[in-house]
Amino acid sequence: MLDQILEDIDTQGWSLASNFISDSELTSINNYFDEHKSEFVAAKVGQGQQKLRNEEIRGDYTLWLDPLIPHKTFLSVTQKLDDLQNHLNQKFFLGLKDFEYHLAYYPASYFYRRHVDAFEKGSSRIISFIMYLNSSWQDTEGGELVIYDREGKTLKKVTPAPGLMVCFLSHDFPHEVLTCQKERRSLTGWMHNRNLN
Ligand code: OGA
Ligand code: MN
Repeated sequence: MLDQILEDIDTQGWSLASNFISDSELTSINNYFDEHKSEFVAAKVGQGQQKLRNEEIRGDYTLWLDPLIPHKTFLSVTQKLDDLQNHLNQKFFLGLKDFEYHLAYYPASYFYRRHVDAFEKGSSRIISFIMYLNSSWQDTEGGELVIYDREGKTLKKVTPAPGLMVCFLSHDFPHEVLTCQKERRSLTGWMHNRNLN
């Protein structure tokens, strides 16, 4: 699986890894999700003092987790991310130092309009990763992640299938989340080329 991700990043800058999260990991993460649902906060757009809730742009709710003191529920996933980060550094000299992640859900009828994760100059976000947590997802339920190239051409429409991980170079790929027809859950994060703490 790691080899395939590295090859994809090399040749196209993005990769899909099915079953990156196992069924038992999905179950325990979803239990954690349910137990902490009331702690999620409405995600905002913009930066610093300009940060505002704008449901015309994004409608997700997020719960940030601390990767330095991972709750036991996230230990095995954190280890896989650590491993991936090390391999990305060995192969591409990306200088990745730390990653951060949050849980996210989009209630039915919500979306996230097209954006780039590393929009400001000098952003330390280098790799974006998203893992999908719903235990089932039908094509009719929407919520696809659409990845574009810089010219706006669609590169890939990704169904948020259980356990799938998507990763891509944060600076290079505009993307959006289409309207979902039921609650859509993910674990989303970024690898940075600076220390976060
Ligand atoms: C994000 C994002 C994509 C997804 O949170 O920045 O683009 O598929 N998420 O959830
Ligand atoms: Mn994004």
